[in-house]
Amino acid sequence: MKMEQVEEVIECMRAKTRKNPKIGLILGSGLGDLAAAIAGADRIPYQSLPHFPKPTVEGHKGQFVIGRLEDQNVIAMQGRYHYYEGYSLKQVSFPVRVMKALGIEYLIVTNAAGGINTDFRPGDLMLIRDHINMLGGSPLIGANDEKTGPRFPNMSAAYQAALIDLGKKAASSIGINIREGVYLATPGPQYETPAEIRMMRALGADAVGMSTVPEVIEANHAGLKVLGISCITNMASGILNRPLSHTEVMDTARRVKENFTGLIKEIIRTIGTC
Ligand code: HPA
Repeated sequence: MKMEQVEEVIECMRAKTRKNPKIGLILGSGLGDLAAAIAGADRIPYQSLPHFPKPTVEGHKGQFVIGRLEDQNVIAMQGRYHYYEGYSLKQVSFPVRVMKALGIEYLIVTNAAGGINTDFRPGDLMLIRDHINMLGGSPLIGANDEKTGPRFPNMSAAYQAALIDLGKKAASSIGINIREGVYLATPGPQYETPAEIRMMRALGADAVGMSTVPEVIEANHAGLKVLGISCITNMASGILNRPLSHTEVMDTARRVKENFTGLIKEIIRTIGTC
């Protein structure tokens, strides 16, 4: 990641929005509709910006939506880049740098994930307590610019404890059940084998997905406060006696949309205290 590139993007965005977002939101597969709740929005397609590759996957719109949600200034990413699409980890996490440069302090990252923990059920929402990076790389590999963050960033509290508490309180105040657990990132795009899921469970993972970790590494490097939420869209491979499908993932995400939107709104309404 080159700071000159980020600056070029910011210059271009500043011609399209005068808003100063405080909270960044990355909306995962099937969860992008939350962007419609953002009031007075400026929409900036990634394609209209320099240094942004074109997104490819079904269910991803590919734009920043900047406006008001629950009386707070937010910037949402409706659609994100995935490693499995062929982008580098640096390309995947680049938009986090852009949002940081726009002034965000908080990053709320969401995703669709398979449930490894057998207590989980499709439709559950899980606050990410910690992650396991099985992508085989890091967006921070290469020269480090000390102005943007440390060479060896601390990851011992990658997901802020105060924000996890806030997430729990938000869930209870809107009356929804919430889970908490460890998210493991795999490159994909193939779903896992049952043997891989048994391995991941033995390693301490509760959910598995193909995103989030690069952005969270970049966000920690940038000094952002991070909250992660997984929508458990399916039980992971081998737990139930049936194949996994992208259709099931999207159908479940759609089904829990109301709970998901309610939770995010309540978190955003109360986040100022963290
Ligand atoms: N595995 C990996 N990624 C996923 C899954 C899964 O079961 N469900 C949604 N994203």
